[in-house]
Amino acid sequence: MTWSIAQLIEGRQAEQYSLHRRYINTTLARAQAIISFDKVYVRGQGAYLWDADGHRYLDLLSGYGVFNVGRAHPILKQAIHEVVALDLPSLVKMDCPLLAGLLAEELAKRMPPGLDAVFFDNSGADAVDTALKFARAATRRPRVLYLDHAFHGLTLSTLAVNGGPEFRKGFEPLMPGFDAVAMNDLAALEKSLRGQDVAAFIVEPIQGKGVYIPAEGYLQEAQRLCHKYGTLFICDEVQVGMGRTGRFLCCEHWGLEPDIVTLSKSLGGGYIPVSATITRRSIHDATFSRLQRCQVHSTTFGQNDLAMAAGLATLSVLDEERLVERAATTGEKLLKRLAALQERYEMIAEVRGKGLMIGIEFRAPRSLGLRAAWTAAETAQKGLFAQFVVMALMRDHHILTQVSGPDVNIIKLLPPLIIGDEEVEMIASAFEAVMTDAMNIRGPVWAQSVQLIKHALEG
Ligand SMILES: Cc1ncc(COP(=O)(O)O)c(C=O)c1O
Repeated sequence: MTWSIAQLIEGRQAEQYSLHRRYINTTLARAQAIISFDKVYVRGQGAYLWDADGHRYLDLLSGYGVFNVGRAHPILKQAIHEVVALDLPSLVKMDCPLLAGLLAEELAKRMPPGLDAVFFDNSGADAVDTALKFARAATRRPRVLYLDHAFHGLTLSTLAVNGGPEFRKGFEPLMPGFDAVAMNDLAALEKSLRGQDVAAFIVEPIQGKGVYIPAEGYLQEAQRLCHKYGTLFICDEVQVGMGRTGRFLCCEHWGLEPDIVTLSKSLGGGYIPVSATITRRSIHDATFSRLQRCQVHSTTFGQNDLAMAAGLATLSVLDEERLVERAATTGEKLLKRLAALQERYEMIAEVRGKGLMIGIEFRAPRSLGLRAAWTAAETAQKGLFAQFVVMALMRDHHILTQVSGPDVNIIKLLPPLIIGDEEVEMIASAFEAVMTDAMNIRGPVWAQSVQLIKHALEG
């Protein structure tokens, strides 16, 4: 049989957007065309993508944070090739596969004290769902608390702990007794915990949608309150873990000792979907409480050899290349360069972040002409100015970024952790150029505003 994926791609590359319009998400394909993001990328390596015309793009999106070790890392490729070449007996299911044991051992080494029982899933939402089930089984309590603006996935159970009304709308009612609390409001948290019916309080130590960082002391005190009232404290590290913020786990910045940690995204090196829910043995075993319940929670593809090998290879690369430390130092440089722009451009309200997770928040300009343009854009759709900046970074500087969630004027940068001084310079000078252009109402940043406002108003 002569069948080749390379030949298939070569023969049909030009159809990628039309196929999506026809068979997949028509609305998303349309949105990409409107903002001129409908590129044909043909290669990805390290921190860069290349399109069919040979143009290079700096990728600050990293597939929503899955390429911490960079694209096409040779060790990841080798691990995957080896697993395939060895014809390993993956997914026997009625055995205890070696690679899952080895990855669990490596993860446990990197956890806060006492977290050494691992459950493997396929996605971030799976890992959170598992954490919530474990918490209910271990505490025998029904309720769950989460933070305003939280994002823990988009399945029905994780939507129930999603703090963004724009995601929940149209899918309610969700889980009864799952309630939001405001970040930094410890009194509200304690009030909700006092009834001693809350199984878990789940937090992202830094929130992904908006890059919101809790006030100093908040997370430690929230953890203390959880323990006081018998509630499990879950740190969802799906986005901020794996070295992203300059520590292996983001919760290490505050010396937290959560009861459950979730990891995913970069754990699979950008190749294989995989996630892990890591907890104490007693919490884990409350679900698998007797022989008849040994498979009461399970997923078909959990522990598959390709995913486990990708996880082991990723952890090895993080260590060998000291990428966690690198994220801390490069992130500090980038944050400093971008923060310096805040002093010069009134539309930058704040630059914040840790390691290589950085948010840039915009605000209304003071000058009258610009303010009118800003108001028109914001009235049509909140966060539209940030979208103009994302478009300008792409069009004029070949830098791929994203608006950090619905209805916010915040851009989020999630570069691979391998970037260095060259990329810091590229990013800082591109932002500077775009912000200079944004000061001119007749400049390129505002050029497509009328057209985009029209599309926004049409929905
Ligand atoms: C903190 C957090 N938790 C969970 C998820 C869900 O992960 P997935 O999209 O793999 O289901 C995400 C995804 O962005 C996330 O950022």
